[in-house]
Amino acid sequence: MTKPILELKRVNKSFGPVHVLHDVDLAIRPGEVTALVGDNGAGKSTLVKAIAGIHPIDSGEILFAGEPVKVAGPRDAAALGIEVVYQDLALADNLDIVQNMFLGRERGKPWALDEASMEQAARETLATLSVRTVKSVRTPVSALSGGQRQTVAIAKSVLWDSKVVLLDEPTAALGVAQTRQVLDLVRRLAEQGLGVVLISHNMADVMEVADRIATLYLGRLVADLPRKDLTHSQVVELITAGRSGELGLARPDTVTI
Ligand SMILES: Nc1ncnc2c1ncn2[C@@H]1O[C@H](COP(=O)(O)OP(=O)(O)OP(=O)(O)O)[C@@H](O)[C@H]1O
Ligand SMILES: [Mg+2]
Repeated sequence: MTKPILELKRVNKSFGPVHVLHDVDLAIRPGEVTALVGDNGAGKSTLVKAIAGIHPIDSGEILFAGEPVKVAGPRDAAALGIEVVYQDLALADNLDIVQNMFLGRERGKPWALDEASMEQAARETLATLSVRTVKSVRTPVSALSGGQRQTVAIAKSVLWDSKVVLLDEPTAALGVAQTRQVLDLVRRLAEQGLGVVLISHNMADVMEVADRIATLYLGRLVADLPRKDLTHSQVVELITAGRSGELGLARPDTVTI
């Protein structure tokens, strides 16, 4: 098996008295889509924000390319090549696609931005991701559909030298055709060698696009298995009960004291 690009070991995270993540172990491999599933409140977004340095971990370890790293803030995550696409996207409506993709990381001098180079890079990135529905990179984001915005947000995350991309419910608000477009894009990121984490409540999407399925149940990672070894109903059981047959949490009757 390929070596993980990102590994979490015994990661814990609390918000005040609320212990959200319990001893989470997770390995993300390059070239693979890992679906992170779990019920509402299971801790999926918290886990993503912990990796992204927005809610730094309380204890445990994060390893990047095999080396322990400290991710104390979003800058640390970005420096490692970890990018996150949040559900609310954080795109600036009044800016066009190029301005959004380079927001905060513009090329050129503040008084003389290198517009041509940024425009070309934006166009090339969209092209390598086979994004064809966006007519001009100078379109203001406010004029794009939900799916197109999602596409721009994902393209923005891979414009940088990204190694890991975390997508928190990228298709939640999308229609059938737009979902198709985003799922294709997710697969393409993995084909380009990135480690991809996809959070989704849509089992059909998860079963279609994931190589592995990691299940969080009440803040514990109860299973991390190849998708091909799991059925739809097993995943649903893991999500709702934390176990499915021999998979997931140990059965109380098999626990030895
Ligand atoms: N900033 C915060 N402060 C306090 N508690 C928080 C904070 N963020 C999340 N929590 C709590 O952590 C738990 C996990 O929340 P999280 O958002 O990670 O769940 P989730 O798995 O992403 O759920 P969903 O599928 O609904 O998005 C919840 O009980 C939530 O109330
Ligand atoms: Mg969430």
